Amino acid sequence: MSNTDTPFKDNLMAGKVCFLSGATSGINRQIAVRFAKQGATIYVVSRSLDKVNDTVAELEALGIKAAGKNVDVRSYPDVEEAINDCLEKFGQIDMVLAGQAGNFPAGAAQMSANAFKSVIDIDLLGTFNVCRAAVEHLNRTDGNIIAITAPQATRPWLYQSHVCAAKAGVNMLIKCLALEWGPSGIRVNAISPGPIADTEGMKRLAGTAEMLEQTTNSLALRELGTKDDIADAALWLCSPAARYVTGTIIEVEGGTSLGDASGALKL
Ligand code: HXC
Ligand code: NAP
Repeated sequence: MSNTDTPFKDNLMAGKVCFLSGATSGINRQIAVRFAKQGATIYVVSRSLDKVNDTVAELEALGIKAAGKNVDVRSYPDVEEAINDCLEKFGQIDMVLAGQAGNFPAGAAQMSANAFKSVIDIDLLGTFNVCRAAVEHLNRTDGNIIAITAPQATRPWLYQSHVCAAKAGVNMLIKCLALEWGPSGIRVNAISPGPIADTEGMKRLAGTAEMLEQTTNSLALRELGTKDDIADAALWLCSPAARYVTGTIIEVEGGTSLGDASGALKL
């Protein structure tokens, strides 16, 4: 089984303006590209201006409107400024992706309080800031928010206490927002990617060929995911096919949260 470029009908996102945080590399950038190929207008934010400019150039080359700003999502005023800039440029916001994250392996007894706080602030506070700043302006009949979480949210993980705590917070946050904002026509969900090939996350957590093999063998589906797997799920959540879906965590994990499948024999 593998992804085609898109299994969805063309121009599913035509007329939609999407505000995507942390979408200048890896999984989230692939989501931005996928949305652009479906006709969306895209606004991206991350800390590095070079990465923002490079992403905007790639998106514009696809023939759609795109813009962005270098913003650290830990600063609420800066996020608000980017939202206003997006509104000034494109006039509306229909969809928000809160995708940024910070990760490094470190034992709880070894990391500083500031190291722990950094990840909580990027992942959890950053997700709140993006959702909070956008919500007043979000489309009130077809508004759609997607956060990117991780399997660490539901399973204790060695040397990931900061990430586990932050992503568990993201999972609960999106459920609370879904409950509060559903009556205003806004759906709020999260996607939990499993180990995704060729990403910064996997480089940090499984940086050697041996670790990658071990990870792959532990998965029920016995292969790493692709960035397209996550882009497909994001596009589905934006589509009318998901119109009755809110407050959920969509696991696109190859079975990560099921547990270790390395001992399972093939039939
Ligand atoms: C211990 C560390 C550390 C490490 C940083 N710190 N790296 N502690 N081990 N490897 C500490 C620092 O010493 C400092 O504490 C505090 O963390 C903040 O560090 P800064 O460098 O000042 O922070 P900042 O510039 O804000 O950078 C944030 C970051 C960085 C998280 C530390 O790595 C980053 O920018 N990451 C973004 C990209 C990323 O992580 N992508 C992967 C996402 S994948 P002191 O006490 O010294 O001040 C993912 C899930 C993967 O999330 C799941 C796979 C299954
Ligand atoms: P990545 O390439 O490192 O992407 C992280 C993005 O967030 C970058 O665009 C980065 O750009 C931005 N960012 C980081 N800190 C920020 C901040 N404070 N403010 C604004 N932007 C910030 O990582 P990835 O591996 O593709 O992961 C993407 C998402 O998927 C994350 O939420 C991660 O937790 C989740 N995930 C990944 C995997 C995996 O296998 N990779 C598995 C499960 C979940 P700047 O550096 O320019 O800020």
